[in-house]
This record gives sequence, C-alpha cells and structure tokens, in this order.
Amino acid sequence: MVMLVDVPRMASWISYVGPEAAIEGIRSRLEADYRRWPDFDKTPRIAAHSPLGVIELMPIADAERYAFKYVNGHPANPLRGYQTVTAFGALADVHNGYPVLVAEMTLLTALRTAATSAMAAVALARSDSHTMAVIGNGSQSEFQALGMRAALGIDTLRIWDTDPTAMAKLARNLAPLGFEIHCATSAEDACRGADIVTTCTADKTLATIVRDEWIAPGTHLNAIGGDCPGKTELDPAILNRGDVFVEFTPQTRIEGEIQQLHPDHPVTELWTVLDGTVAGRTHDDQVTVFDSVGFALEDFSALSYLADAVAGTRFAGTVDLIADPDDPRDLFSLVAGEEAAVRAASAA
Ligand SMILES: NC(=O)c1ccc[n+]([C@@H]2O[C@H](COP(=O)([O-])OP(=O)(O)OC[C@H]3O[C@@H](n4cnc5c(N)ncnc54)[C@H](O)[C@@H]3O)[C@@H](O)[C@H]2O)c1
Repeated sequence: MVMLVDVPRMASWISYVGPEAAIEGIRSRLEADYRRWPDFDKTPRIAAHSPLGVIELMPIADAERYAFKYVNGHPANPLRGYQTVTAFGALADVHNGYPVLVAEMTLLTALRTAATSAMAAVALARSDSHTMAVIGNGSQSEFQALGMRAALGIDTLRIWDTDPTAMAKLARNLAPLGFEIHCATSAEDACRGADIVTTCTADKTLATIVRDEWIAPGTHLNAIGGDCPGKTELDPAILNRGDVFVEFTPQTRIEGEIQQLHPDHPVTELWTVLDGTVAGRTHDDQVTVFDSVGFALEDFSALSYLADAVAGTRFAGTVDLIADPDDPRDLFSLVAGEEAAVRAASAA
C-alpha cells in the first residue's frame, strides 16, 4: 500500500498543525537538504508550453529517495474559474523503485514556496526587516506572508494587486491573523518603506511590475512570479544593481528574471550561502534579489517532511497502486482468475 495525502487530508493536516508551523517545519527540512546539495541528482524541470500556460515535471533524487511533481502554470485560469497553479506528486524508495507517498501538491507547493522564500530571506534580508510589500495577492500571497512572519517577524504588509477583489481577499484573510495591512494605491506605493518586496503576480509576459527607482538601498526582493520563459516581473536595472541569488542556475537562466540579462551575468546559488561557502548580505545598503523559480529539491523536502509528519496519523490514507503478485514474475496471475470467471459466465 502507498501512503496517500489527498486534498481533504492535506487541508486537515495544515489546519491542524497551523500553516505557519507547517511552513516552518518544511523550512528546517529544506535548509538541511540545501546544505547537502551535492548529494542530489539534479536536472532543470521538463516543460510543455502552450499559448495559455505550461505543464511541468520536476524530478530529483538522492541515494535513498526519488521525488517528482507535476505542476501547471496557467495565468489566465482564474478568469475561467480555474486556479493558476495546481500540482500533485510522489516520493519513491530508490532501493526498489516503489512509491511510498502520493500527495496533492497545490497546497503543499504554496507551503514549500513560502518556506523557500523565508529560507532565502533569513539568509539575505536585513535582520531588522519587519515590513513587506506583497505585489500580486492571489493564491500564494497568504502563505508568503505567514512564512515571512514565522521566520523573520514580518508584521506589516503593504499589499497591491491590479484586481481590487484579490487585495480585499488578502486583507480579509490576514487582518484577523494579526498583520498590520496597508492597501496600497499602486505597486510603487506598496514598495515605499518596505524592507522586503515580494512579487507573486501571474502574467505570461515580460512584465516590469517593480521599477528600480522604487527600490530603496538595503531592500531584499523575493521575486517568485517570474518562473517561465517569457514571464518576468522585475526591471532589469534592479538585477544589475543588486546581487542575484538563484536556486539551480541552469533552470533559472531559462525561467527566471535573469533571462532578461546576458547569459554570463554573475549569480550566486543559494545553497552556497546556506552552507557558509559564500557570503549572502554583506552590508546594510546592499540590494539582494532572490530570483525564485521553484526547484525540485523544494518538493523533495516538502514531500519528505510531509511523509514523516503524517505517517500513522489520520491525515494519511492508503491507495493500492502497486500490482504485486505473490510470484513477482507472475503478473498474469492477477488477471487470470478474473478472465476465467468472465469466460465461464458467458459460456453458461
Ligand atoms: N517560484 C516558485 O516557486 C513559485 C511557486 C508557485 C507559484 N509561482 C508563481 O507565482 C505567481 C503567483 O501564483 P498564484 O498561485 O498566487 O497565482 P494567482 O493567479 O492566484 O495570483 C496572481 C495575482 O497576480 C495579480 N496580478 C497579475 N498581474 C499583476 C500586476 N501587473 N500587478 C499586480 N498584480 C498583478 C492577479 O490579479 C492575481 O491576483 C505565478 O506566476 C506562479 O507561476 C512561483
């Protein structure tokens, strides 16, 4: 039997432990996994593009476990009643190749993306940061805010979205949780006084959501929405002025904000900061940019954390996914009885 965490079970688990605690748990697993980066067999994700969006497969493995995620990105989906991003995935045992966990990953992706943003911000943002601009107030936004509060103590949000109903939704969801919320009048207004600027917009275009002149010295940018060829959010001048940190360079060159720059533009892989090889923030006036696209290791860590957290609890179901006859070479035995019964019934 394979462990199954479907949408109702995932939603119950997150509600039970609390989203901030779940994000924090995943963040600590992620940090540990990022520090052992060389242990992983890594590849840029495999993307199938269409005019409306992209469907991607994200595989990764270490010596013990293999993980993959199926995820889509369709920015026009909300206007058609669908979500922009949905996902599911699996964790498998490398020794026999059998899956051990199958899980919904739309909610889990929101948690792991928040955990990754928080991990990067702890390494790169000023430690006295308490105000964050949130530009793009859709599905990821609440999780981003909660992750940054849990990791850094962000308590004040300056929110902006081109859709006022999305802003109202974010304010409605987060105000009761104790955030001080300023509904901005523009993206520029949102950036004013922000220690961290998070961009999580969805539009399949080379957009400039944030301009260089709006960014004060010392700001950390957490750019998560530019994650596909032809889909960006930042003014390239910000990337030239600041220091750019990425997950997995070969993938980010194709998908990230840095697709706008020369292919040799220097970037730093985040894992080298986390393992102490390279300095992250070196002075208070430095502009740091986390050019996040989402990397398979984050799904591996989230699935591994989830498997340990829910095993043996009411949040884990099972699904019979592996056809395993008593004699491993006699696969036919599983269908022979059925076939004979059908033949006997039609002869009678
Ligand atoms: N880096 C990662 O690991 C990662 C993970 C998940 C999602 N994403 C990306 O993050 C983005 C947001 O995802 P989501 O699930 O929240 O999408 P969503 O569709 O739920 O929300 C996007 C929001 O952006 C707003 N928006 C669009 N253009 C804007 C603009 N010019 N200015 C301000 N707001 C604008 C929309 O009105 C919408 O409310 C997507 O692009 C998605 O692909 C990245």
